[in-house]
Amino acid sequence: MNVVGISAFYHQSTCCLLRDGTLVAAASEERFSRAKHDPRLPVEAFRFCLRRGGLDLTGVDAVAYYEPPRRKLARQLWAGPAADDELAWLDPEGPLQAIRRGLGWEGAIDVFPHHLCHAASAFFYSGFDEAAILVADGVGAWATTSYGRGAGRQLELFEQVVFPHSLGLLYATVTAYLGFPINDGEGRVMGLAAYGEPRFVDQVCQLIGMGPDGQYRLNLRYFDFLRGERMYAPALCELFGAPPRRPGEAIGRFHQDVARSLQLVVEETLLEKLRYLHQRTGAGALAMAGGVALNAVANGRIRRQGPFERLFVQPAAGDAGAALGAAALAHAARTGRRPGETLRHVFYGPRYAAEEIDALLRATGVACEDYRGRHEALAEAIAERLAAGKVVGFFHGAMELGPRALGGRSILASPLEAGMRQRLNQRVKRREDFRPFAPSVLAAHAAEHLDLAGPAPFMVETCAVRSPFELPAITHADGSTRPQIVDPEVCPRFAAVLAAFHRRTGCPLLLNTSLNVRGEPIVCSPVDALFCFADAGLDCLALEDFLIDRTPEVDRWRQLLAAWERAPRSVFARRRSAIAEHLYTFV
Ligand SMILES: [Fe+2]
Repeated sequence: MNVVGISAFYHQSTCCLLRDGTLVAAASEERFSRAKHDPRLPVEAFRFCLRRGGLDLTGVDAVAYYEPPRRKLARQLWAGPAADDELAWLDPEGPLQAIRRGLGWEGAIDVFPHHLCHAASAFFYSGFDEAAILVADGVGAWATTSYGRGAGRQLELFEQVVFPHSLGLLYATVTAYLGFPINDGEGRVMGLAAYGEPRFVDQVCQLIGMGPDGQYRLNLRYFDFLRGERMYAPALCELFGAPPRRPGEAIGRFHQDVARSLQLVVEETLLEKLRYLHQRTGAGALAMAGGVALNAVANGRIRRQGPFERLFVQPAAGDAGAALGAAALAHAARTGRRPGETLRHVFYGPRYAAEEIDALLRATGVACEDYRGRHEALAEAIAERLAAGKVVGFFHGAMELGPRALGGRSILASPLEAGMRQRLNQRVKRREDFRPFAPSVLAAHAAEHLDLAGPAPFMVETCAVRSPFELPAITHADGSTRPQIVDPEVCPRFAAVLAAFHRRTGCPLLLNTSLNVRGEPIVCSPVDALFCFADAGLDCLALEDFLIDRTPEVDRWRQLLAAWERAPRSVFARRRSAIAEHLYTFV
């Protein structure tokens, strides 16, 4: 039974393939198209999934889609379209027709409610036999927060909060007020919060009122997203006593304090609603998904202070993961069996053979060291460079699904270096200096450095740093970090690099950030990696079995890239983000 799952036409189009209920392949379209948050039909991702599954279209048994277009359209019409040119999208048959046309699929398309897809992506991959389920995002069709339970192959959502009342939209609105792009800048607001004091909690509490059970309401006089011009109303600016921050304007104490206050109120709201969910379900375990579940700081508190003993956060908690949920639901509906498995890693994207990379490197003429068949020596060579303070691109195996790089498409650096955070933020990632980096740590030594309260393979929750080392590059202003615990059985080559670095320095942690520059999707192919290597100012690139040190030749590529970037209509011109920066794209 081969089931294809699709999420598309919104924020992060994604395609996955389930074979007999087990995930075989999954990737977001942005990685292939190189347009960040690409909302278009995931044609390239679909082709990849078929290739990985060794299938053509005749081998596909079912196609599943992650939201009922009619229900979404009803909500869009209720809210009013954001702009005239979006009217063309308001065709309830549009998405399913586009899938048929674009993929050549003539069979039926199994359509499932958006939050049920999120819920399935959390529960069926959690490994829990029974669990309570929380889904929270900006908005699906109508639902913005859903409460449910799962047992075996059964899944039910028993209560929902509906649009326009939404924790995701509350966060997005304040994100826009603080001058960050929506659907992308929420993580920056979360990072900024660690520097602030919660002196605007009373004001943020004016924005959201608690209701009975799982309910809450936004105070709509502070929000303008229904009219579609911008997220916040003038009343919100009056409430905080300051005009909105313009993008690029300096970030001050005020912005930090608003961010901290927002973060705190969202955490408290989630904790309160989870106490209700726990009481209602009596479950010992919790599975979470939806964009709000990417709030790692809130997740850390839920792990430590929430009522549940066990927690699983779907690592692709946003709409990328909803494709998995749709496919899982289709499998369950067609076979009567429970789909999914305990998710141990997210390496479901394209991988590239060493021979292919060898041919590419020969074609570029770049000097490299060939470590084929000498993986221990390669790990040592990488660790040697890291210990010397070098920044290393690390490309190995299949690409990760979801927003985090976890050792497949990563940039690695020593967490011991004092200036490393600044160097990476300014020169490599070209982003605000307040943003922290996350570490990867060898499982056997994690407890010596981190105050962990549970498993953490996916960088989806924060914990306190308790290390004999000073770890300035990965420790946030509040002493927290967002770690990935690396299991050598799951990621042997990455673990070997960590172990080699540990032997050299006594430190089993490495800074691990995604292999991309600001505004671009994480790299997918070896060609993307070479461009990123040149562009991002990395010292070294480990491209599978080949190690490339930076040379004047690579710097010349960088000059070429800069020239291409300046050429306005050049075929090499960078594609920009596919989402509106100032407004939640409802359509
Ligand atoms: Fe969603």
